[in-house]
Amino acid sequence: MSIVVSIIILTVFAMSLDVRAGKTTMEPCLESMKTASLPDLPYAYDALEPAISEEIMRLHHLKHHQTYVTNYNKALGNLRSALADGDHSSVVKLQSQIKFNGGGHVNHAIFWKNLAPVHEGGGKPPHDPLASAIDAHFGSLEELMQKMNTEGAAVQGSGWVWLGLDKELKRLVVETTANQDPLVTKGSHLVPLIGIDVWEHAYYPQYKVLINWCGLCIVQKCKREYLKNIWTVINWKYASDIFDKRGRDLNEC
Ligand SMILES: [Fe+2]
Repeated sequence: MSIVVSIIILTVFAMSLDVRAGKTTMEPCLESMKTASLPDLPYAYDALEPAISEEIMRLHHLKHHQTYVTNYNKALGNLRSALADGDHSSVVKLQSQIKFNGGGHVNHAIFWKNLAPVHEGGGKPPHDPLASAIDAHFGSLEELMQKMNTEGAAVQGSGWVWLGLDKELKRLVVETTANQDPLVTKGSHLVPLIGIDVWEHAYYPQYKVLINWCGLCIVQKCKREYLKNIWTVINWKYASDIFDKRGRDLNEC
């Protein structure tokens, strides 16, 4: 998460520097930044079945996430060149590519850790203090899941639904973001605990029904069914551990 924010801040700051000489003090920082790489999944591709099929997991990880990583690294390389050349127009133009592909990498890296096979604790309810905070802020775990399902299903186009920790309000929040925007784009005070991918590539073609409409066979994609089932493999231990670390100083949590 912080990588994307850092890059955005870094490049905006670089705009304010006099780069006519071709070199800025920002370049060594960008040069030393490691390129992103596709993280291994912490479980086998078929380990989340039947909630998420092996086919979906392979495509999602090896094709979609890898593409975000590749394009993010390419955009960073172009940013280095643009900064070195003092090419302000290109620096500005690259912001959207960095946000989209860097966000895609950051979000998916969280998403894989948000999931776990059932035999490794997937779907097992969170432990305290997160469990108590959920009850206090949403009524119950079931009510939270229903709220996230409703808001996730309502995302127009592609995006994410999040359970986050709001460090300013000192409470848990449910948020949605469009496209590949990380939760932090809604505020640096937000810490992601659970992020659910509601892009079509996360559930289609596994979740679909065929409808006969006036003799025509129509495919209906079932995002609501995907959202209902994904809770059976949500890794609440991961969310609970993040909450333990980040919520430690929040008296009301
Ligand atoms: Fe995705």
